[in-house]
Amino acid sequence: MTATAQPLEIRSLLRLDEGYVHSDVYTSPAIFELEMEQIFHRGWVFVGHDSEIPENGDYVLRWIGRQSVIMNRDSHGNVHLFMNRCRHRANSVCQFERGNSAFFRCAYHGWTYKDNGELVGVPYAEGAYEPALSKENFGLIPAPRMGIYRGFVWGSLAADGPSLDDHLGVSAKRAVDLFCDHSPVGEIEVRHGATKSVIYANWKFQGGDGYHPPFTHQADFGSIRAARQGRPNALLGMIKKDTTLSRDLGNGHFCLDIRTMGRGPLPDAPWAKEYRASMEAAYGTQRAKYIMDSGGPHTILMPNIQLLNPDLRVLRPIAADQFEITFYCAFLKGVPKEVNTARVRLTESRMGPAGSVNVDDVEMFERNQLGMQQLVDPWKFIGRGMAREHIDNDDATPEAYRYENSRAAHYSDELTQRAQLRWWAAQLERA
Ligand code: FES
Ligand SMILES: [Fe+2]
Repeated sequence: MTATAQPLEIRSLLRLDEGYVHSDVYTSPAIFELEMEQIFHRGWVFVGHDSEIPENGDYVLRWIGRQSVIMNRDSHGNVHLFMNRCRHRANSVCQFERGNSAFFRCAYHGWTYKDNGELVGVPYAEGAYEPALSKENFGLIPAPRMGIYRGFVWGSLAADGPSLDDHLGVSAKRAVDLFCDHSPVGEIEVRHGATKSVIYANWKFQGGDGYHPPFTHQADFGSIRAARQGRPNALLGMIKKDTTLSRDLGNGHFCLDIRTMGRGPLPDAPWAKEYRASMEAAYGTQRAKYIMDSGGPHTILMPNIQLLNPDLRVLRPIAADQFEITFYCAFLKGVPKEVNTARVRLTESRMGPAGSVNVDDVEMFERNQLGMQQLVDPWKFIGRGMAREHIDNDDATPEAYRYENSRAAHYSDELTQRAQLRWWAAQLERA
């Protein structure tokens, strides 16, 4: 691939009907530039959850592609998404990952903005501008579009285009609903720290791969967890059993639908009884049981957020062969503290720096990236389960969480990767 790749060449990198994708899709800097332009600087990108900024004045610094943005809550409680750029000579006005401030003061020449973006201070302005500077024309610039669904905040740098509602679609919203509905008040809280790391691989490696766990995670599932649960490698059995599905949820979103696997009973403890009772009071017995048994969605929303209960994983592409990932544990509001303690221990034990799952995935992603740099035979095969793809209406699931009319295949099939790439190609080819 040359540095002048054009969108029209994109289709030549995919032979999905035969089950092949060209390695350039994951290794080419030119393709990465197109992704920045067409996906991250044009489409909807997840930036944060509004529970990260609960108090007036709270802010967090985030990214939309390569653009630094400030998500904050102003003195009136309104959430904003501002481009991190001073209106004077374009310095970034915010340098800290998070904090609380009623003002953003640019360190370069002292221009100062209120938390609602209004420019309120221009040092030594008297006599310097003729006519006098109109401060109202120099406020912080908001991201062209911001959308919020159940506290999840997305931004788009394009003033026009599909709405957030269109981008998510019904099924992805239902996945968000199932994630949040583990709380009896339907709200999560994302403000208890995170684990962040850089992975030297392409950002499109986002999991949703049901084929790898018994092998990649052999240590965890085959020995550690099996010993804990007193059973052999459970996931090998799952691939044979055919009880779970991979699903294309539309718009590039996909999931491993492991909701029917069950999570086992809650412990026989007063806090567990209290949690169950509050869930039943909130949702009714049947729906509460479904939510708690499901373990939540295992869903990946393009381009950069994964809901893998209890984790929220957010991804930031840096280069064709480099991305950053942040793992948050989503706490549930309105539950006994033991519920959240158990959730955070789970996130730490699987995804933390000494966790038993993430390290395996990172190693595979990086080995995969290395393999794809080979120039001889650049095609990789993602044809598993092509003949098993079918439309599934998810009838057994309560309507509130149903993935109606979704393309599905066996849990271990590469349907998810094909779904992601079809969406990806359509984004890169958009006029
Ligand atoms: S660049 Fe911000 S005050 Fe000059
Ligand atoms: Fe994995």
